Amino acid sequence: MMYDFAPAPGQPKPALYRDLVEAALAITAGEPDAVANMANCAALLAAYLPDCNWTGFYRMVGGELVLGPFAGRPACIRIALGQGVCGAAAASGKTQLVPDVHAFPGHIACDAASRSELVVPVKRAGAVIAVIDLDSPLLARFDADDAAGVEALAAAIAERI
Ligand code: SME
Repeated sequence: MMYDFAPAPGQPKPALYRDLVEAALAITAGEPDAVANMANCAALLAAYLPDCNWTGFYRMVGGELVLGPFAGRPACIRIALGQGVCGAAAASGKTQLVPDVHAFPGHIACDAASRSELVVPVKRAGAVIAVIDLDSPLLARFDADDAAGVEALAAAIAERI
């Protein structure tokens, strides 16, 4: 079985994210294993989104965030609620769009190359079950279109991870 998901070149972000969500729904359809589904979604994010050095998941386990499937360099394993950008997203239940991580109090530098970050909570029945974390080596890589696109992905896969 070979998958051949790839973004069409030169698309505006809303169309790119529509394709990404469609690919994520297709690749996770009928598969009950959460790790497999997060792994493929992390790989799709890396394939579809240019200028990202880390794309992946932290899962809520026992009241803290624990590293999940990702594409990128090895990362910190456990993050307390409220700590760093991921912990802020998990604690507040709100998307964190950080144009300059050096200006974010408590940012956790897993990869010194990271300059901007987007973290979106994944919720099931109103509770945060995971976060999707995207890091970029570019300043202000992410905007409101990225936030809306990753929020759409989070909603689409919430029952599958
Ligand atoms: N920078 C994140 C930590 C996770 S790594 O970037 C993969 C944070 O501050 O929450």
